[in-house]
Amino acid sequence: TTEQNVLFTIFGGTGDLAKRKLYPSLYRLYKKGFLKEHFAVIGTARREWTNDYYREIIKETISDLVISEETATEFASHFYYQSHNVNDAEHYVNLKKLAEELDDSYQINGNRLFYLAMSPNFFGTITQQLNQQGLVSTNGFNRLIIEKPFGHDYESASILNEQLREVFDENQIFRIDHYLGKEMVQNISTVRFANNMIESMWNNRYIDNIQITLSESLGVEERGGYYDKSGALRDMVQNHILQIVSLLAMEPPAKLTDIDIRNEKIKALRAVRLFNPEEVKENFVRAQYDVGTNNDSLLNKYQNELNVAEDSQTETFVAGKVLIDTFRWKGVPFYIRTGKRMAEKGTQINVVFKNVPLNLFSEDVEEELPPNVLTIFIQPTEGFSLQLNTKKAGIGLETETFDLKHIHSAETVANSPEAYEKLLFDCLNGDATNFTHWDEVASSWKFVDVIRNEWDQNKTDLTSYPSGSMGPTESDDLLAKDGFSWYWNP
Ligand code: BG6
Repeated sequence: TTEQNVLFTIFGGTGDLAKRKLYPSLYRLYKKGFLKEHFAVIGTARREWTNDYYREIIKETISDLVISEETATEFASHFYYQSHNVNDAEHYVNLKKLAEELDDSYQINGNRLFYLAMSPNFFGTITQQLNQQGLVSTNGFNRLIIEKPFGHDYESASILNEQLREVFDENQIFRIDHYLGKEMVQNISTVRFANNMIESMWNNRYIDNIQITLSESLGVEERGGYYDKSGALRDMVQNHILQIVSLLAMEPPAKLTDIDIRNEKIKALRAVRLFNPEEVKENFVRAQYDVGTNNDSLLNKYQNELNVAEDSQTETFVAGKVLIDTFRWKGVPFYIRTGKRMAEKGTQINVVFKNVPLNLFSEDVEEELPPNVLTIFIQPTEGFSLQLNTKKAGIGLETETFDLKHIHSAETVANSPEAYEKLLFDCLNGDATNFTHWDEVASSWKFVDVIRNEWDQNKTDLTSYPSGSMGPTESDDLLAKDGFSWYWNP
């Protein structure tokens, strides 16, 4: 382990994300020796906090990770608080002064990592001020980590991107999609490219369809204000789901470098077919959760949630068909679905292979055997399973279908680093593999915008589903039309 010299400036330093994810992740990196003596953190936000108070908060956020009070105090001593109004140029002068002092006293040599973990409205202003007030260092690296949402459509994303690009180069901008930090999302490329058996069949000759489900059991909770303007399409499809699609669909990269991998992902996303309004109706469904039950508890409908309009037409569920116009994927639908207040929290990918040409095990050779299905369990279960047809033990020749399964042990899951820890580590090392390139963001918004526009104009097709279910019947119909059905590997 080599120590990284770095000064973090965290905008939104009093916020929920910083407390829940960033500080514990920084602590883990510290414990492992990646951060040691030559690092400091400036937390900044509106509130007036003292350094002492800030350090108490830091200690609280890591209380279940630390080994001793002494270590906690030492770690927290690297943290400095500066109250800040992002619109006021004066405040950046203070920040700059503090940054220079800390750079000096911790001998950081100019490496700076700016983390924007606050309302996206301010992303543009902050980066411009960082430049104008001279916070961007002239020796060492400057990197910007930026949280979602990256715009709310293609146009706003482009404007934001241009603002960032006035100050930072593309290779200095690290756009977070925390799904890319998940262990099993990172495993997609490994299972594909390290297994000839899989990679040689990874195309339209052998695969019937691919299904991606991101289901959540929680409702919108206290995020109604944000979510009611966003909806599931923007919140989950534009980023997490299309990222997973690109990892499944991309061609093998020449090398496992960030440049090569992201180039392949960009190509895959560019090949996603953009629908016309008629095709949107055929290929996408949206719905909102209604009252329902889960494990005997009674659940509210979406329109009664905090900060949600009573007559809200926002979708909390999306299912759709994504088509990728490449040699490899012509004719293979990628079905996607995501929703809140569904039956359970679970993310899985099911790759459904084509059947054998003829069923020798039935009187009727046309009768279909269950297909081979490769399941990639992303969360909370992590692992793989492969559904096979075999002979049932005993006299005669009956078939039996079972799963070859490997699931990570609870210990492995508990010991593997959390997404944010891995992503921060990658950024410190200048590795952008698991961050989204602007070209990926651009293609994703273009795909999503067409659907959004059609939905905004045509308000009639929003349906509902009972809380605690796997979504509306329209979602099942979508696959049934093509002769398929959703797989859910319990
Ligand atoms: C976020 C969305 O990006 O991802 C949330 O804004 C969603 O609405 C969350 O709940 C899901 O992430 P995870 O890691 O819990 O699957």
